[in-house]
Amino acid sequence: MSDKNSKGGNGSQGGSRKAIHPGAGRRKAVPFPKGRVLDPTDLEAVVALIGAQPYERPLLIEYLHKIQDAEGCLPAGYLQALGDLLKIPMAEVYEVATFYAHFDVVPDGAEKPAATTVRVCESLSCMLAGAEELIAALQLEEMPNVRVVRAPCIGSCHTAPTCHVGHHHVDHASVEKVKSLALEGHVHPGLPDYQTLGDYIEGGGYKVLRGCLGGDISVEDVITKLSDGGLRGLGGAGFPTGRKWTFVRAEKGPRLMAVNGDEGEPGTFKDRHYLETRPHQFLEGMLIAAWAVEAEEVFIYMRDEYPAVIKILNDEIPKLEAAGLIPNTKVSIRRGAGAYICGEESAMIESIEGKRGLPRHRPPYVAQVGIFDRPTLVNNVETLYWIPKIIEKGPEWFASQGTNGAKGLRSYSVSGRVKNPGVVLTAAGVTARDLIDQCGGMLDGHEFKGYLPGGASGGILPASMGNLPLDFGQLEKHGCFVGSHAVVILSDKDQMKAVALNLMRFFEDESCGQCTPCRNGTEKAVQLMSQESWDGPLLDDLSKVMADASICGLGQAAANPLMSVIKYFPDDLK
Ligand SMILES: Cc1cc2nc3c(=O)[nH]c(=O)nc-3n(C[C@H](O)[C@H](O)[C@H](O)COP(=O)(O)O)c2cc1C
Ligand code: SF4
Ligand code: FES
Repeated sequence: MSDKNSKGGNGSQGGSRKAIHPGAGRRKAVPFPKGRVLDPTDLEAVVALIGAQPYERPLLIEYLHKIQDAEGCLPAGYLQALGDLLKIPMAEVYEVATFYAHFDVVPDGAEKPAATTVRVCESLSCMLAGAEELIAALQLEEMPNVRVVRAPCIGSCHTAPTCHVGHHHVDHASVEKVKSLALEGHVHPGLPDYQTLGDYIEGGGYKVLRGCLGGDISVEDVITKLSDGGLRGLGGAGFPTGRKWTFVRAEKGPRLMAVNGDEGEPGTFKDRHYLETRPHQFLEGMLIAAWAVEAEEVFIYMRDEYPAVIKILNDEIPKLEAAGLIPNTKVSIRRGAGAYICGEESAMIESIEGKRGLPRHRPPYVAQVGIFDRPTLVNNVETLYWIPKIIEKGPEWFASQGTNGAKGLRSYSVSGRVKNPGVVLTAAGVTARDLIDQCGGMLDGHEFKGYLPGGASGGILPASMGNLPLDFGQLEKHGCFVGSHAVVILSDKDQMKAVALNLMRFFEDESCGQCTPCRNGTEKAVQLMSQESWDGPLLDDLSKVMADASICGLGQAAANPLMSVIKYFPDDLK
């Protein structure tokens, strides 16, 4: 046979003993392939679910959704079959599938999860409204073929506590409501009563877009109006929109566009509000943006927690195509799968490409190298929502609505201890005290103690600082920021240590795990913050490392609430 074996290695010299070198391999190929063996019935089943060729690697998450929706889980054999069809290793399919919370990978021979999943929100506003008690009570209930799991914010903080029964959204959830919905199989989304295309057009809708497409309005004019109006990115970063469009246009085409509809920041529900009430104003803004940057394709990345919105978009976009309002671009919807980090724009782009949502290192920025390495415009839903109105009514109309030095209108998502929580559309730069007034005051028996000005990442301020303007750039000197304008009002009934721990647990769960300061830092912080007494200097040290050395905004901002408690609420630490 092979002289490899007859020659042997060092050990064979001068003796009859044959040695096999550790790297020499076996004499014969094994009669079966290494690793899992593909089961042809799995292949057939997957083809039946995802349809016929051609299969596209970037659609991996869409295919996974199709399987999860049909089977209630992702059987391991199906992942292998999917890998085979896409010509990628099973490992790649597996790492994507296990990254997202809404996919349940089930090993061979293991039981499928229960047919109905109840996802109870455990984020801050729901915690204040009794989510822990609700989860505990639901877990004690006898509900055959129903499982109860915890979930981060589902964008309904004003109706806390909330949950999803399957895809059915439950406001002010109680054990009785959830139980009857789950047992009666009410698992589909209810469609809200939104403004139709006809009504929108009757009110003057799509006139601006028609003006753009028809050559009556120039790109320069649009960008000037947005800049003069002071429109800034309402996804959280506040980058001036007109300037962003100019940067993207300066990059060599072909260009692409992505709409950020991930809205995962706990406390935020404004995008959902506009999408479920006036979807066409958003769609018109989106199409104007796509026209301005000459985007070949627009990807609307919509969080999986908003199934009604996904249905609305799937229903309305074909109507626009039929009306000739989308002549030069393709519009595709991409469904998220339960990962907060996919709201970070570069992670969202990875997810649109069908991968895990790991934020990219910058530079290059997504405006230069975005989806499929093309220059990409990324805008938040609400940013786009304001565009037709600013062009139609003029930049002065928009800019003049601000207060305390801020420009424009803002949609604050207000939740927590106020009488009438909800989206408050008002002047940019209003204060937390103004918002409490606009929400009917504090709940009876509650005294204003503090507030989150910008969701989970924006820190916590005391009531004594309730007169600060809630605008970009105003709160940073206090260790906070306004971000997506999610304001959670806290009262004397709330323990700030528990509040900060809830927020840190969220970041620990949602960290993508790519960098050590964030992955280990959030975990360590949760451990330290769970102690009876906080080790201030150690937490301070840890916070600095996380803020300085994390790759993206999640890790950089995760310690904001914790540091705010140490700075502004020392009495809560005694
Ligand atoms: C951790 C993290 C989560 C984010 N989540 C969202 C989100 O859910 N929706 C959003 O529009 N922007 C989110 N952003 C901001 C986006 O990265 C990006 O700035 C925004 O989509 C740009 O659009 P805009 O300029 O219209 O705001 C997030 C940023 C970070 C760091
Ligand atoms: S900071 Fe956190 S979420 Fe961001 S890349 Fe690092 S590990 Fe991922
Ligand atoms: S829906 Fe529960 S905190 Fe937002």
